[in-house]
Amino acid sequence: MRALIALLPGDGIGPEVTAQAARVLTAVGELYGHSFALREAPVGGIAIDQTGDPLPAETVALCQAADAVLLGAVGGPRWGPSALVRPEQGLLGLRRALAVFANLRPAVPHPRVAAASPLKPAVLRGVDVLIVRELTGGIYFGEKRREAGWAEDLCTYTEEEIARVVRVAARLAQSRRGRLTSVDKANVLETSRLWREVTTRVVREEFRGIELEHQLVDSCALRLVQQPAAFDVIVTENLFGDILTDLTAVLGGSIGMLPSASLGEEGGPGLYEPVHGSAPDIAGTGVANPYGAIGSVALLLRHSLHLEVEATAVEAAIAAALESGALTVDVADPDDRACSTGEIGDAVVAALSLHKETR
Ligand code: IPM
Ligand code: MN
Repeated sequence: MRALIALLPGDGIGPEVTAQAARVLTAVGELYGHSFALREAPVGGIAIDQTGDPLPAETVALCQAADAVLLGAVGGPRWGPSALVRPEQGLLGLRRALAVFANLRPAVPHPRVAAASPLKPAVLRGVDVLIVRELTGGIYFGEKRREAGWAEDLCTYTEEEIARVVRVAARLAQSRRGRLTSVDKANVLETSRLWREVTTRVVREEFRGIELEHQLVDSCALRLVQQPAAFDVIVTENLFGDILTDLTAVLGGSIGMLPSASLGEEGGPGLYEPVHGSAPDIAGTGVANPYGAIGSVALLLRHSLHLEVEATAVEAAIAAALESGALTVDVADPDDRACSTGEIGDAVVAALSLHKETR
């Protein structure tokens, strides 16, 4: 297969983790006989520095022409949250430009990093949760106003915006354990009442085998740390999904472990990025955890390139590297020597070759 992959390292630790993810992708190409062309472009703070625009038109054009986009992270203290032009506008603009409305954020704790979680091992047993976050609507993209002593963010959802992300989540639930939890705040928000109605209808009419439950976002947050194994697939709106997916970091041991895939309609390029941010405090020190970025490569291979064997191989290589004790400081035992970002890349690439040889 030939594929064009847009590489958007971005800010902070973005370039460091993306470099390891790109190595793994290149290794997959070599081992399995694919030709992956990786082309780099700026987004976020670095793009502001270079061009004044967090999402230059050339970057959008490259991403739209690509088969998939691999992104690191955006943002940092150099570009303040109240500046007129902000790195985050680059990321949000890209999600919008690529129309990637369904953001898949899986959390499957690996036993080797369970000790890094503040949760008890018994609570983590059997956890395999997939959060599907609506990504191009809601309060993130509604009209914003600011006047003296007063501000407003509008939250809007249409039936179609809800239905299409629910379909993605329900399809994924069908391929897993058949359970879907729809999360809203229907006791307060009108958009949530619409969300609940549309979800109920779509699942009833189109996904007969799926077991659907509704849960309010506050109690869902509590249940995610008390009984995380109770969940299969969760579907929710943009802001709730942002918050709940950071919470799932305690399941995976570290936010550095979590990958994500953002998908639009079939055929368009998907956007793949680790869930963690730019972590400016550790940028450039070589300690960043690249597992989330590398896990995003597995999702890219699966969802955009439809290379299931290769995707599974990357996931197996990640598991093998973890089992061999290749752990960055955020997940390593305090008594063990922690690996650098590059050493994790080495371990995954080595495990990938071994995995290929033994098949
Ligand atoms: C995320 C991030 C982004 C979001 C920020 C950087 C705009 O927190 O991907 O979860 O809020 O969506
Ligand atoms: Mn977030």
